[in-house]
Amino acid sequence: MAAETTFKAGLEDVVANTSEICFVDGKEGRLIYQGYDIHDLVNGGASFEEVIFLLWHGKLPSKSELETFTKAIATQRELPEAVLNFLRSVPKDANAMEVLRTAVSDLGLYDPDNGDESLEANIRKATRLVAQLPTIVTSFERIRQGLEPIQPDASLSSAASFFYQLRGEKPSEFVERAFNIALILHADHELNASTFSARVTAGTLSDMYSAITSAVGTLKGPLHGGANEQVMKMLLEIDDESKAQQWIADALANKRKIMGFGHRVYRTEDPRATHLRKLSKEAGELAGQTKWFNMSQTIEAYVKDSKGLNANVDFYSASMYYAMGIPTHLFTPIFAISRISGWSAHVLEQYRNNRLIRPRAEYVGKVDQKYIPVNER
Ligand SMILES: CC(C)(COP(=O)(O)OP(=O)(O)OC[C@H]1O[C@@H](n2cnc3c(N)ncnc32)[C@H](O)[C@@H]1OP(=O)(O)O)[C@@H](O)C(=O)NCCC(=O)NCCS
Repeated sequence: MAAETTFKAGLEDVVANTSEICFVDGKEGRLIYQGYDIHDLVNGGASFEEVIFLLWHGKLPSKSELETFTKAIATQRELPEAVLNFLRSVPKDANAMEVLRTAVSDLGLYDPDNGDESLEANIRKATRLVAQLPTIVTSFERIRQGLEPIQPDASLSSAASFFYQLRGEKPSEFVERAFNIALILHADHELNASTFSARVTAGTLSDMYSAITSAVGTLKGPLHGGANEQVMKMLLEIDDESKAQQWIADALANKRKIMGFGHRVYRTEDPRATHLRKLSKEAGELAGQTKWFNMSQTIEAYVKDSKGLNANVDFYSASMYYAMGIPTHLFTPIFAISRISGWSAHVLEQYRNNRLIRPRAEYVGKVDQKYIPVNER
């Protein structure tokens, strides 16, 4: 039935809200957080914690604000015993994103600020979520392997803590630095699908945990955050660099999408891929494992050449995480432990200036059907 406004498949280019948090400049290939270009944040040596503060408060923290905020995250990493018990109770082969989604929802039940919807309480909830999401991911991974979760060390940065909680060992200086950059690069991306779903949930004035649970479920899909895991599966399946070109050619001929390529907004290089390409190379060299980076480069050149598609954030993060020894099934959960910063920034912004998000559908179904009682059909 005729809609009052034009339908755009996938809401492409539809502007759904105003926001001060993040600008994705698809034409120029720039990504800006609260006015700061990600290249400047990365090259200037920002910490992930600093970027979270920036996203939430719209300004860079002072030295003492940053110390206080970093400490607030570092000291709240432990999970309530009930959530740990939940992680112990789930099937060992459960999908890590499904476990994360359910655990985030579970976490909300034990949040001391549950039911308090003030800005201060929501910032405290968001801080706990930033602190505890990595603990959910690392604890479940250890439990799955028959190991005990590791007590968090409050002296570590978010980047270092992830590896410590996963393996019981602090990462090398390079791994900490590279992972910190990856966390910054994944922190926010305007109205990507998961952030949009978080805002839709928050727009009903539902609580922060409900909004983040929606977002985790949305991130899981292979067209969104799930792509980084699929990229690594593809590299492992190809296995031999000399076969990469043919493999991609066959996939394209079969109308298959190549994971880690293409973007709804960028028409140029994804600025996040610029850093991740470099870090993936370095990570591969340091691990004595350049095969995956080299294969990625061959694939990138071929896809660009044959389809004009650029690598996106998920392409080189896959080989970088792999070179760091991170299990493939944790790649998408890692995306979530970074994006929680952007999700919560958007939820806070939604609450600040809320209006229910409720679009229309263009009705293309039948009309004027005549009801016939069941006994007469
Ligand atoms: C990101 C993505 C979902 C954007 O989707 P979109 O804006 O809806 O674009 P479409 O899927 O409509 O793609 C437009 C065209 O480019 C092609 N295309 C887009 N991405 C492609 C890819 N990764 N491999 C092969 N072809 C691709 C589509 O087949 C389509 O071609 P057609 O017009 O001949 O049918 C899409 O590029 C994709 O599926 N990429 C792979 C998954 C991925 O890496 N996701 C992470 C995003 S950060």
